[in-house]
Amino acid sequence: MVETAQQFLGRDDVDSVEAILADDSIDFGDLVHPTPARGDAIFTWDYERSRPGLAKLSEKAKTSQWNGSTDLDWSTPVDPERVALEMAPAAAMFQQRMAARWGPKEWTQFQVEALNWRMSQFLHGEQGALICTAKIVATTPWIDAKYYAATQVMDEARHVEVFSRYLDTKLEGHYPVNPALQLLIDDIIGDSRWDMTYMGMQIMVEGLALAAFGFMHHVTEEPLLKKLLRYVMADEARHVAFGVLSLQEYYAGLGAAELRERQEFAFEAALRMRDRLMMHRVWETMGVDRRTVTEFLLGMRRMRNNPFQAALFSKIVPNCKKLGLLDAGDGWLRDRFTDIGVIQFEDATDTGEEYESFDEVARDRAAG
Ligand SMILES: [Fe+2]
Ligand SMILES: [Fe+2]
Repeated sequence: MVETAQQFLGRDDVDSVEAILADDSIDFGDLVHPTPARGDAIFTWDYERSRPGLAKLSEKAKTSQWNGSTDLDWSTPVDPERVALEMAPAAAMFQQRMAARWGPKEWTQFQVEALNWRMSQFLHGEQGALICTAKIVATTPWIDAKYYAATQVMDEARHVEVFSRYLDTKLEGHYPVNPALQLLIDDIIGDSRWDMTYMGMQIMVEGLALAAFGFMHHVTEEPLLKKLLRYVMADEARHVAFGVLSLQEYYAGLGAAELRERQEFAFEAALRMRDRLMMHRVWETMGVDRRTVTEFLLGMRRMRNNPFQAALFSKIVPNCKKLGLLDAGDGWLRDRFTDIGVIQFEDATDTGEEYESFDEVARDRAAG
């Protein structure tokens, strides 16, 4: 464990408060953040449609496009406090222990900030997906994957647009990107192996996003946000399926050493995403310093003590299993996911086919 933490996160102890705080204070700039993209752009002269699973997914994507400006009713009035309080109960278990002295006013303000923070991270994450997918168009060697990824570029641009518009016109206040999330996205874009962009973005980041969107969609009664999330999730389910289908084929042809590198990358991403969930800046806005929050949350140690956070891995773990990554070699990744308390999701529904049941756009059009 010690060796791997050093190798992945540049820290000896995964739970080092100092290292987590140092990462969390990285400044990604006020206006732009340049980061190196690595990997060759691959031209293929094999135009044959030899991957029916990906071809089917592309067809689905073509008929499931929606328009963020006209398919959503932006005239819907939104009460940010009300939406924020809908999200409160699931997170309340640990927050209440931190915030025992707060009255209802502080508690509401905290939830409003937390909502702004979550929606801001969705926005920045969507931009990461936009850039990663554009990179996949260039770096994947398969024509069917280039076709599919091109549809996803359009999807992600639409997601950036709708989250940005919701934040700007319905909520009050943005947060900058969470450093743990941006560090992960930078790693994904900076890796020259084409499949690592898929693994990092389609399996890990989008797998977590799908679970997070699903939670928010389930609890909110705000009609604009509910429909926005339903439409975004229908797209995301295809995106994760794209990752699963592509990587299943590619990983079946890799040897043990190469698979081990993929397992390590998956685990590094999982640790980054765990750190991301600490919401340091929200606590800071409320006058609770970062160190106190970090120490408290690390005190809970394992995510199984925090079912809400663990549930965010409910898509990632079965998808890793479906890709053969959980048990490749000596089951290294199974052991790591056991360590961080998320292995219980291994038999949850994977996302290889789930997109079929998510076709909201077709359903709405059929309903007139
Ligand atoms: Fe997206
Ligand atoms: Fe996506």
